[in-house]
Amino acid sequence: MNRFEVPSGLIKKIDFVPHLPIKLDYRRFGQYGGPHITELKEFQDASKKAIDLHALLLEGKDPTLKDKEVVMTGWKMERPFVAASELEAIQNAAEKLAAEIDDFWSIGIGGSFLGIKATIEAVRGSLELFNLLYPEQRAGTPRIFFLGSNMDPAYTARVLDILQGQRIGGNVISKSGDTVEPAIAFALIQKSMESSFSPEECVKRIIAITDKSKGSLRKLATEKGYVSFTVPDNVGGRFSVTSPVGLFALAVAGVDIKEFIAGVKWAEEQTRNQPFEKNISMLRAVMRYVAHKDWSKKIELASNGVFDLRSTAAWMEQLGPESEGKNGEGLWIAPEYYTEKAHANGQMIQQGERIFIETFLMVENPGVDVVIPGKGTPVEYLAGKTLHFANSAFIEGLRDAHYEGGVPTMSYILPQLDAYTLGMFFQYEMNAIALSGLLLGQNPFIQPGVQMYKDVANIRSGKPGTEEKAQAMKAAENKLDPKFLI
Ligand code: PA5
Repeated sequence: MNRFEVPSGLIKKIDFVPHLPIKLDYRRFGQYGGPHITELKEFQDASKKAIDLHALLLEGKDPTLKDKEVVMTGWKMERPFVAASELEAIQNAAEKLAAEIDDFWSIGIGGSFLGIKATIEAVRGSLELFNLLYPEQRAGTPRIFFLGSNMDPAYTARVLDILQGQRIGGNVISKSGDTVEPAIAFALIQKSMESSFSPEECVKRIIAITDKSKGSLRKLATEKGYVSFTVPDNVGGRFSVTSPVGLFALAVAGVDIKEFIAGVKWAEEQTRNQPFEKNISMLRAVMRYVAHKDWSKKIELASNGVFDLRSTAAWMEQLGPESEGKNGEGLWIAPEYYTEKAHANGQMIQQGERIFIETFLMVENPGVDVVIPGKGTPVEYLAGKTLHFANSAFIEGLRDAHYEGGVPTMSYILPQLDAYTLGMFFQYEMNAIALSGLLLGQNPFIQPGVQMYKDVANIRSGKPGTEEKAQAMKAAENKLDPKFLI
């Protein structure tokens, strides 16, 4: 039987031009037919505040920048500027490991997971498909699997099954070193690796990324002699993709980490030096703040039509709400994948309760394009055009329709999906969210609500020392009316 073959000329590669800047299009951020946001007094007042708050971030003296006693602005001060000294060591260790393995596992949750997945997928392609490529198509990069961000037995068992018989290695990431989900995943991987490889082999294949001295993971890494990298004290989980937390796994995945940090540095310098009217992070912070405080918007849609950016939208979903969701305030961020979702919740965005703003991630150069052979089909008018053309037309159509329907929209325009662009994007967005949190009067660098969940989960799962609380919890549960369990 003949085999499937794609006719030549259907798929076209498009080269990237290095170091193009990201742009922000906020022409549609306002009431359709009404004034643009910049004409409003509330915008002008908040703009002045944002400039002062940015100075506060750089100064690092305010209590709203601290987690316990540490000023949490390391991602803005040291990462783009002094990280170069670390890059070499990380790159070397990553190359050494990548050369030895078929499959790479990365264990972590929240900030120790999302930025890594987002960057790898944006730059190398969605893992759902990347992991299906033949080794030569992956150009020496191992397949990549994530563990520890959920405790689903079926998912975990399937990943362990896939790894059977392979040459594997990976990194376990936890700033605190004590988060339960990654600790369980690592216990599983460690046990399996120790029964498969010699102690020397294990040490070569396990990298720990954690606090310099605190926590169970640091203790374990020291005991076992694992190669380790340090999560800086002054960088919180969701701001850590540009630190060793992200860099090691990115380097294993073949992402150019020097270019990545160069992009981070460029965006940081732009944020520091551009006047307010051209300052992507400040403008975004003020628009989000005014939309939430003065227009009562509740949800920011992080929308895009690029399959490889789905995890980037998921990274945004963490960064915003975990940073500013405090004291009864904060914008929820909802990833929105087009055009798939246009045929689902798109109805609500267009005509439901007017609680949305929408931020698009547009990509100018997709790196590859596919020609539509529409002749003799219902889409004949698109014959000879490309998927990028059609996709852009549809996404821009959604943007315009939503704006007309009462959804203020803005767009990040990403020139292409390479390491440099992703670095720029993360730094702009981390600045924007830190500033919009500060505008709301929140400390964007703490997450006491997450700690509350961890405490209750620890009680329920029988962590030693929680016995008394467990009894109180049981007593409260016994008071629930059984007639509502049917
Ligand atoms: O942003 C945060 O601080 C959190 O999402 C953490 O990254 C997450 O809870 C994981 O924590 P840790 O790295 O300590 O295991």
